Amino acid sequence: TEQKATNITWHDGDVTRADRNKLLGQKGATIWFTGLSGSGKSTVAVALEQALFARNKLVYRLDGDNVRHGINKNLGFSAEDRAENIRRIGEIAKLFVDAGVIALSSFVSPYRTDRDLVRAMHAESDMDFIEVYVDVPLAVAEERDPKGLYKKARAGEIPNFTGISDPYEAPETPELVLKSHEMSLEEEVDAVIALLQQRGILP
Ligand code: PPS
Repeated sequence: TEQKATNITWHDGDVTRADRNKLLGQKGATIWFTGLSGSGKSTVAVALEQALFARNKLVYRLDGDNVRHGINKNLGFSAEDRAENIRRIGEIAKLFVDAGVIALSSFVSPYRTDRDLVRAMHAESDMDFIEVYVDVPLAVAEERDPKGLYKKARAGEIPNFTGISDPYEAPETPELVLKSHEMSLEEEVDAVIALLQQRGILP
């Protein structure tokens, strides 16, 4: 997106990211869950949040409740609005990582280019970005239909509904795939924790 403001200068502080990490005894990172509505993104994020907090890690969840009802309340579900939704969430996640926090982001984020942009934004700032694909067949998500949205989408009452009348582009090389219909929640959390240990994000 276009940079609107001119004559703006970055003002560095005297306290660095490394200083904050040292104070907290941890390193921030973004764990980015992507998948269909009803795939189980939020469920695993909630369980992971609890597991990390129990290990004395400062962790914060970003999801629809605190984002689409707040900072992104002006955005809908067109491809353009989803791109802006994801870009802003990516920037917010980066602020958390810079603060030393482990950010858990659960959004459908159906477009590969949008997720790859967030990945690139993290890489540029030397931040860890872990993409976790919560992979269930559409039929499973539709059968769960926790909010009754698939039913409405099938009835033509929700335009551009991911998986029904809008695309979902699965990640090609995610750091992790969780098949929530074949794994228990505990197994999913353990798999993420094992990966974080392997990456040196957790001891
Ligand atoms: S996106 O694509 O990443 O910008 O979407 P996200 O911010 O995660 O919002 C998805 C949740 O909004 C509900 N919803 C829709 N999803 C997909 N397509 C359409 N058109 C749509 N309209 C509303 C839906 O409940 C998603 O919630 P989750 O928690 O994923 O089920």
